[in-house]
Amino acid sequence: MLAIIGGTGLTQLDNLEITRRLIVRTPYGEPSQPLIFGKIAGREVIFLARHGNGHTIPPHEVNYRANISALHLQGVTEIAAVATVGGIHTDLAPGVIAMPHQIIDYTHGRKNTYFDGIDLPVKHIDFTEPYCPELRDKWELAAKSIGETLINHGIYAATQGPRLETAAEINRLERDGATMVGMTGMPEAALARELGISYAAICPVANHAAGRGDSLHAIQYEDLVENLNQTMTRVRNIIAELVKRNGFKKNEV
Ligand code: HPA
Repeated sequence: MLAIIGGTGLTQLDNLEITRRLIVRTPYGEPSQPLIFGKIAGREVIFLARHGNGHTIPPHEVNYRANISALHLQGVTEIAAVATVGGIHTDLAPGVIAMPHQIIDYTHGRKNTYFDGIDLPVKHIDFTEPYCPELRDKWELAAKSIGETLINHGIYAATQGPRLETAAEINRLERDGATMVGMTGMPEAALARELGISYAAICPVANHAAGRGDSLHAIQYEDLVENLNQTMTRVRNIIAELVKRNGFKKNEV
């Protein structure tokens, strides 16, 4: 079963025919909102808005463990995580949609593992490739089939937020090799891996990162939201295509 986690600018899926909403309780607390079960083009999918219904939960307060655990309890095996970013690399201008292949974690103080209790033995997951390469390749082709481009690489810097970065911080992230910056990439990706769920992120670029392009002196939040509205329409179409193809074998599509 495929789940979509929506981020800023994607609190609901317009093209989703909702069949039921389910309140789920997990050992880690409640997810950001009841899980939304529905269909797109007759194919089942679960939707969860990471920041809650009214976009009220900031990145550092999202209960990532409850969100991923709730999806796992419902039999989710694949997650498409939509997470908006600021573009650091010049190729990642507002309006571009990218699927990063790597991540650097700069967050702190977030509950970032299921293996910290006394009841479970310590486990060190392999995280060499944090985003599932098969999903990324599959989704790149799905997007192509409807005339969309998903850039299939990039290094995501996960910052703590909720404030945006300084220009000097962006310079540092760039020296580290990061090409895009967002606040929700971690620990979500690692938790999915801990539970054996295939996970990849779809990252619409909302703005030039601080100190870059038209964000040289400031990031205009209103412009950021306006950019996102346009890009999210394209993201919704791409997601519809992913859901439509999900469950079909390669030679059936
Ligand atoms: N920085 C961090 N997170 C973001 C940005 C940004 O510039 N844009 C959208 N999410």
